[in-house]
Amino acid sequence: MVGSPRKEGNTDLLVDKILEGANHSGASTTKIYLYDQTILPCADCKKCLKQLKCSENDGMQSIYNELDKSDVIIFGTPLYWNSMSAKMKLLIDRLRPYTVNNKLKGKKAVLVIPSDEGHKACKDLIKLFNDIFDRLGLRLVEILCVKAHDKGEVLNQPKSLEKAYMIGKSLK
Ligand SMILES: Cc1cc2nc3c(=O)[nH]c(=O)nc-3n(C[C@H](O)[C@H](O)[C@H](O)COP(=O)(O)O)c2cc1C
Repeated sequence: MVGSPRKEGNTDLLVDKILEGANHSGASTTKIYLYDQTILPCADCKKCLKQLKCSENDGMQSIYNELDKSDVIIFGTPLYWNSMSAKMKLLIDRLRPYTVNNKLKGKKAVLVIPSDEGHKACKDLIKLFNDIFDRLGLRLVEILCVKAHDKGEVLNQPKSLEKAYMIGKSLK
């Protein structure tokens, strides 16, 4: 999942490389641009806690289907104000049904975070995702934090691209 509004931005390119590596290992992959999806805010109606699914009829329904059938989920977000992008936060809030239906339990998660300042600046966000994944039963298997500012800047970083590719290859 690409949680940046910039297509062919750093998040997008790094996620692409991971998918390329995964495809090379025979995985079938789907990329979702969160900014292309209508994701309404969680209304805290609590229906999901009884019905084990979200009854809001928006773009999340197809995302739920994808998540349900995935073995590995890549969460790609640029670092925004030391946190995740707004669209990624909308998605995370809407993952509440999974706290009761446990459908994500045991699946692998990969975190991809480009930022101006690099790995150190991502510390708090990594901790936050760790807490979120714990609650969902997701296993965080790889973290890729890359220092990059301009759109597409990671293309000038062969080491970062190689690392992303190798992460993808290792995911099977
Ligand atoms: C609204 C906004 C907030 C940002 N906040 C931070 C920040 O707190 N720390 C940081 O290092 N970079 C910050 N950045 C820079 C982005 O994380 C960086 O440019 C990243 O490479 C963008 O990824 P993208 O190309 O996938 O959109 C911010 C950028 C924007 C637009």
